Amino acid sequence: MTESIIQINDLHKSFGDTPVLRGLNLSIEKGEITFIIGRSGGGKSVLIKLIIGLLKPDSGQILVDGHDIVPLGDHDLNRVRHRFGMLFQNAALFDSMTIGENIAFPLVTHTGLKEKEIEELVEQKMAMVGLEGIQDKMPTEISGGMRKRAGLARAIILEPEILLFDEPTTGLDPIMAEMIDDLIVQTQERTNVTSIVISHDIPATLRIAHNVAMIYEGQIVTYGTPAQIQASDNHIVQQFLTGEGEGPMYLGD
Ligand SMILES: Nc1ncnc2c1ncn2[C@@H]1O[C@H](COP(=O)(O)OP(=O)(O)OP(=O)(O)O)[C@@H](O)[C@H]1O
Ligand SMILES: [Mg+2]
Repeated sequence: MTESIIQINDLHKSFGDTPVLRGLNLSIEKGEITFIIGRSGGGKSVLIKLIIGLLKPDSGQILVDGHDIVPLGDHDLNRVRHRFGMLFQNAALFDSMTIGENIAFPLVTHTGLKEKEIEELVEQKMAMVGLEGIQDKMPTEISGGMRKRAGLARAIILEPEILLFDEPTTGLDPIMAEMIDDLIVQTQERTNVTSIVISHDIPATLRIAHNVAMIYEGQIVTYGTPAQIQASDNHIVQQFLTGEGEGPMYLGD
């Protein structure tokens, strides 16, 4: 039996007069990889920012292990955030720090590890994502793909229980994209981490996901295994999967 680690109930979020999430319900199963798909501007990034408490919803609940994080203040939220690792859509590295310092940052701020131990962990994670030897480079000196991999190394460095990936492979060449996809799978298999992945890559979604949730008009229009999603008789879902109509248009990054 699966067990939910995150339970989202009737979530609403608007910006000004524009509703983005309109009563969204979703369960995230512990130790599984759940992909969130849907058209550009549909609210996917907003949803994961709500899940880690970077945004507050207008109403609704976000239960993490049964505890609603919506009413929490910064102090309590920080404790919950330790359980999450996040790879932002634009990698969000600190421009004033080297790549090595960026990846070490969570260890420096959240652990009492010695410099030598931190160095070793940073080297180990950099090797995992294929970034050996560029510790001393600045984020502006490396490519977008390398920044994304550095962001991934930083997201996994504290070995969090829940990993959130916002378009981890967008903008990467196919070989690099597959490498990141494989890393997501390996990380889940090795550590049994719960992963939530936002993606516009339908073939990768169907290949890797345990569960797929599609956002449409502010709600989850379909949820299930890749096989269940593919067998859906909802025409919105079918159009999206085949790239027609509301298809996986992507203009960013
Ligand atoms: N901080 C904000 N202030 C105002 N509007 C916002 C804010 N963040 C997001 N939005 C709006 O909310 C909507 C959903 O945005 P979101 O970034 O979640 O889309 P998305 O599904 O992640 O799209 P993409 O696939 O292009 O990344 C968009 O219309 C966006 O302009
Ligand atoms: Mg987004």
